[in-house]
Amino acid sequence: MFSFLRKSKMNTVTVEGSPTTLDIPAGKTLLEAMLDAGLAMPHDCKVGSCGTCKFKLVSGKIGELSPSALALEGDELRSGFRLACQAIPRSDLTIAVDAPLSQGIAIATYRGTIVAAQRLCEDIIGLTIELDRPLAFTPGQYADLTAPGIEGARSYSFAFATVGEPTQQLHFHIRHVPGGAFTDWLFCTDRTGMELKVTAPYGQFALKDSTAPILCIAGGSGLAPIISILEQALDRGADRAVHLLYGARRQSNLYALDKIAALRQRWMAPFEFFPALSDEEPDSDWAGARGLITEQIADVADLAAHEAYLCGPPAMIDFAEAQLLAAGLSRSVISADRFLDRSNRT
Ligand SMILES: Cc1cc2nc3c(=O)[nH]c(=O)nc-3n(C[C@H](O)[C@H](O)[C@H](O)COP(=O)(O)OP(=O)(O)OC[C@H]3O[C@@H](n4cnc5c(N)ncnc54)[C@H](O)[C@@H]3O)c2cc1C
Ligand code: FES
Repeated sequence: MFSFLRKSKMNTVTVEGSPTTLDIPAGKTLLEAMLDAGLAMPHDCKVGSCGTCKFKLVSGKIGELSPSALALEGDELRSGFRLACQAIPRSDLTIAVDAPLSQGIAIATYRGTIVAAQRLCEDIIGLTIELDRPLAFTPGQYADLTAPGIEGARSYSFAFATVGEPTQQLHFHIRHVPGGAFTDWLFCTDRTGMELKVTAPYGQFALKDSTAPILCIAGGSGLAPIISILEQALDRGADRAVHLLYGARRQSNLYALDKIAALRQRWMAPFEFFPALSDEEPDSDWAGARGLITEQIADVADLAAHEAYLCGPPAMIDFAEAQLLAAGLSRSVISADRFLDRSNRT
């Protein structure tokens, strides 16, 4: 009868080989709790598609928002691996994680106001959001945006670099997905002045410490985190050669060309830029490359010496990754940010 006085149930999670223990309130996923605590648990999509957040369940019980089998292999499942973004603890747990769990930037929720929504091309809006307080992130990371009246959050990559300083003004490049709830909402009228919930920072797509030449492959609004990463490389001295391949459908879908031109102008090392159009009218005035952007990869000189950053549609990334591996790049020098959603689960 005094159940209303009981504290809401917490489950304690112990991470093997680390001093870390977490108290997780009912209903939270394991990944949410780890990120809230500032633990740099590997993750990417947060919707059970990519398999990046896998952990080994050593003891205890979990419920799953969607089956881990959708993203993990049979032998991984048999060895006890599960997805942290889909796991809801149902008892105290002991888990093991392959990656070292260093302390990262804690995820927090901010109140944001849209202060500008500018068309960058036919199907991409540049969205500027002013936060109620400063946010720190690493270039390449992303935020979850929740709009009024739309169920669930949508993920968008920061389209600029903060150079060491937290910032209150965020920029995103958002492509219209016709029929998509969030992007239909954003594109149907001017949303300036509207409030959004912003939860950030997420993701581990980031510039590596290296001197190797950089190969970037972006499709559509996948240019957003690539620009962010290149701005960071510029701040570090811009002394690494860059090869940027950028795929769009038609000339009317190209954007940020002025931004890329400005980066190239300030770059200290060679900076090659190759846009390619997949659906341009055959008789148009386009003098550049035509076809899929991945068809340009084989023409990159000294391909195997590069460190690669890929961002955009999952199919483009899978194809590019396969070509790079076949050309002799090792998996450790290929970083990819797939714009995954639940529809991409295998
Ligand atoms: C890490 C990451 C970064 C991304 N960065 C960008 C970017 O910078 N620019 C860009 O244009 N796109 C980006 N995307 C894609 C973006 O998140 C959206 O998927 C896309 O804009 C379509 O959203 P929509 O609401 O219009 O379409 P919808 O089809 O309505 O939704 C897209 C997806 O959102 C999820 N969803 C839908 N309803 C719900 C719900 N009720 N609760 C929870 N989730 C739901 C589903 O997974 C659905 O497939 C990124 C995706 C990821 C994973
Ligand atoms: S982050 Fe969990 S499957 Fe992608």
